[in-house]
Amino acid sequence: MVGESTIKWNPFAPDYFTDPYPIYALSRQHNPIQKDSFGNILLFRYRDVAPILDSRDFEVSSLSTFFESKESYIFKNSSACPFLAKTTSKWLMYLNGDIHRKLRIALGKVLFSYDFDRLIQEAVQDCISHFEDDKELDIVDFSKYFIYHILKQFIGLKDFASLEKVVEFSNLAARSQDIFVSKQMYLKMNECFIEGIGLFADSNFKANLIKELDGFEFDEDDYYSILAVTLMAFFETSKDNLSYSLYTILSKPSLVTYILEADTKQIKWITEELIRYISPLQFTVRISKKEVTLQGLMYPKDTRFVLGIASANRDEEIFDSPDEIIPNRQANPHLAFGAGVHLCLGALIARKEMEFGLKPMVAFLQNFNINTIQPLRWGNQIFMRTLESAMLKRN
Ligand code: HEM
Repeated sequence: MVGESTIKWNPFAPDYFTDPYPIYALSRQHNPIQKDSFGNILLFRYRDVAPILDSRDFEVSSLSTFFESKESYIFKNSSACPFLAKTTSKWLMYLNGDIHRKLRIALGKVLFSYDFDRLIQEAVQDCISHFEDDKELDIVDFSKYFIYHILKQFIGLKDFASLEKVVEFSNLAARSQDIFVSKQMYLKMNECFIEGIGLFADSNFKANLIKELDGFEFDEDDYYSILAVTLMAFFETSKDNLSYSLYTILSKPSLVTYILEADTKQIKWITEELIRYISPLQFTVRISKKEVTLQGLMYPKDTRFVLGIASANRDEEIFDSPDEIIPNRQANPHLAFGAGVHLCLGALIARKEMEFGLKPMVAFLQNFNINTIQPLRWGNQIFMRTLESAMLKRN
């Protein structure tokens, strides 16, 4: 029965951010369907998570509506102009039905009009040259630099939009989707969203978007919302995925050798395996459109399900030795890019970043050792797992 086990997922437990996987594993084994104090149903097993992602009987909840309902609380006694609901109003992953379908087609067309192979390959070389003479290096800074240099080639950023500004914007935008966020943090996001309007230049990206969305009555705020979500979805997940991938590879000499000797097919396998293992987006949410039965239990319409993507990706029912990186794992039906109508629109781009980047980056980074004196630093985020710092020292 839901709620009877003493095993409970608790993101406030010490060391949760360092490693949430032990509590995912215990939850899968002893309490796979949990109810939290807000009435949300948390799911940890692949067999529960995967079908919901794929099902038309569930939809996404609107982030913008959530903010509208919270505005009187967040902005009480504050002179700030509320901008949270506005900035998140056209975020694809929080839209349903026709508007979602049309916006997804338009954004997809614009994104895939760019020659990402060339942009990524150039950014790899640029990134390695930039860090060539460094004696010490933070893998997270290295990854940020790489992704930023791809991003700014297509989305259109003003000179003002430095790497630091993009990092801050992307991280706060990602945090806006998290749970248990403080009022102070929401006010900080709001300020960042207002200032963020100035990040985007008039660009081909925006012009193409306007052309593709001809017939929609979108105003400047709507276009800003689309640019904001593209920046966040592109930057945050790719950076998190690459930084922890590189750290994980450098921690294990056999993986370094595998990458350096791998052919194209083997690089594709390990790319997929690293994305499964890392699962930058650890959770997502779906709402039931009608009454549903799950493992014999009945849930009414409008139940909010929190889906443990990262936990499902380590489920021993599906993956052999799920906590190990098996570079040439053949069957790898992971859910790190989601599934169904909201399947990640940038999955192909994220895969290419790894496929073009891994070998030259590992060849360069093997000249460094992991600095064991400075421990890894993790962000205190629940939905997205973010490595904040991983230092290397030149050999
Ligand atoms: C390793 C990197 C990435 C991971 C792990 C990742 C993961 C995900 C996941 C799990 C979803 C589905 C969320 C849900 O169903 O609730 C998603 C959606 C999305 N992703 Fe990614 N993503 C990555 C990179 C990218 C990139 C490079 C872009 C480029 C713009 C991107 C754009 C999007 C967009 C626009 C959506 C919303 C799709 C929709 O709702 O129809 N992502 N991503």
